[in-house]
Amino acid sequence: MSEARFEKFEACVFDAYGTLLDFNSATSPAKDALGMHAEALSNIWRQKQLEYTWLRSLMGAYAPFWQVTGEALDYAMDALGLADDELRERLMHLYLTLDPFPEVPTTLKVLKQAGIKTAVLTNGSPEMITAACRNAGIDAFLDAILSVDEVQIYKPHPSVYQLAVDRLGVAKERISFQSSNAWDAVGASHFGFHVVWCNRYDQCRDRLPAELNTVIKSLAELPPLVLKSEG
Ligand code: LAC
Repeated sequence: MSEARFEKFEACVFDAYGTLLDFNSATSPAKDALGMHAEALSNIWRQKQLEYTWLRSLMGAYAPFWQVTGEALDYAMDALGLADDELRERLMHLYLTLDPFPEVPTTLKVLKQAGIKTAVLTNGSPEMITAACRNAGIDAFLDAILSVDEVQIYKPHPSVYQLAVDRLGVAKERISFQSSNAWDAVGASHFGFHVVWCNRYDQCRDRLPAELNTVIKSLAELPPLVLKSEG
């Protein structure tokens, strides 16, 4: 951990994909069908999925994340010369059954038992993220599952982060926001959350206008930081 300056927190809000849920697990069960394309497909799919959210937000052309995820998959399959409707169905379905990262259930449970409100704040459409959290066995440890669908624009638009403030009824200074996606962490910090960047993927720092003061490698490092600030 590089630096911690924790105030007293009432809520921990988490990004979903890449932070709580491992999106690479969407392609690993289909590795047999994907063969040598498995890693490339996962990377292109994720990159296009994010690009499309940013572009649609700029264009004022919101569509639900389930649709965007499908369109990004269509691009990725096209780019790799894969044309297979059954495989497409299978891959989309796997997005509903992503594995949580190993430390996630215990981390959420410890925070919740200590009286911290826990929530997901995600681009994911409501049915998609609800199914994914249920199948990952983490829904019982979450007080709220919040989707950008309510504000019809994607992260990192400030109205998305404001949604967590409004729905949890907690001031932004009392919210610790966790994301593995550096650009999401930057957006949340720019909005005014205290941000913990869970740098699982050893990414470089983005050159964008916000500081990421607290950097951890795994969410297992989070509870001692948040709970230490309690007294
Ligand atoms: C989400 C994406 C950004 O869950 O990972 O919102």
